[in-house]
Amino acid sequence: MGEIVTVGVVGCGLMGSGIAEICARAGLDVLVGEVSPEAAMAGRRRVVASLDRGVRSGKLSEEDRDAALSRLTFSADLGDFADRHLVIEAVAERFEVKTATLATLGKVLRSPDAIIASNTSSIPVMDLAACTDRPDRVIGMHFFNPVPVQKLVEIVPTQLTSGHVVDHVTEFVTTRLGKTAIRAQDRSGFVVNALLVPYLMSAVRMLESGFASAEDIDAGMVLGCAHPMGPLRLLDLIGLDTAQSVAESMYEEFKEPLHAPPPLLRRMVAAGTLGRKTGRGFHRYDE
Ligand code: CAA
Repeated sequence: MGEIVTVGVVGCGLMGSGIAEICARAGLDVLVGEVSPEAAMAGRRRVVASLDRGVRSGKLSEEDRDAALSRLTFSADLGDFADRHLVIEAVAERFEVKTATLATLGKVLRSPDAIIASNTSSIPVMDLAACTDRPDRVIGMHFFNPVPVQKLVEIVPTQLTSGHVVDHVTEFVTTRLGKTAIRAQDRSGFVVNALLVPYLMSAVRMLESGFASAEDIDAGMVLGCAHPMGPLRLLDLIGLDTAQSVAESMYEEFKEPLHAPPPLLRRMVAAGTLGRKTGRGFHRYDE
């Protein structure tokens, strides 16, 4: 299996834009897929804003920002991904959307060695791999938000993922992207969300029952346990729609009440108050 030089990232939302950014900063040729030219423009703006933030905070030179941007190309046609060595899927956390993307990628990729990775947080990777013509080349590669900041990637092989693919992707994540990889079994939620989701859903239930205010719940965990942010602010960062999808997949897998999205979360998603990305969630983001 050759070195991974050409990378594809499908989906350029919160996670996809971060993944595309770190791959471009690592010197890789990155093709980013979005559903329309408008969505691609919005994704590119997200990457530029994050790179600019790096320049402002002195972490990145202007030359390195421009070089990273020059390595990014956008396309609304998955057919353009034919020459990629590795494609990371980061579309919405919905089964039908992910399987449609992966099935198309399987048909499009020219090299039989090309790897398809999914950034799913909670959908069993085997269920996704089964929709492709190359289940042995499919693996979970789960990043954390904000991708340029969080140092972890969960590597999730299925029963059918080839050992070479696991080694190759782990080497890529650690050596090329400079992240720490941990291995998780293909069970909904993997390692991190298996621990995080019951905690986050408990915080919503605590607020919903009137047990404590949003401010106090968050202050409790920031000041009492030195978490960088409280659980409700973290839900706002993740996006309430994504958090609901993750919790639903985990509930579907284990039928564990602690995973079930509480009514308040569902109503907020229905209301479109999705957290930071819409300016309002458990807290307000007016800036
Ligand atoms: N892009 C690039 N850099 C960023 C960034 C972004 N989007 N957001 C923050 N940063 C950088 C800042 O530039 C800053 O760097 P310096 O200290 O070198 O200046 C640093 O990160 C800290 O940022 P801020 O000072 O603006 O803010 P902060 O100290 O409050 O940190 C935070 C913000 C990094 C988000 C921090 O609060 C944090 O780590 N929170 C927890 C996030 C978390 O738990 N993520 C996992 C979510 S779960 C998930 O993603 C998986 C899933 O499946 C749901």
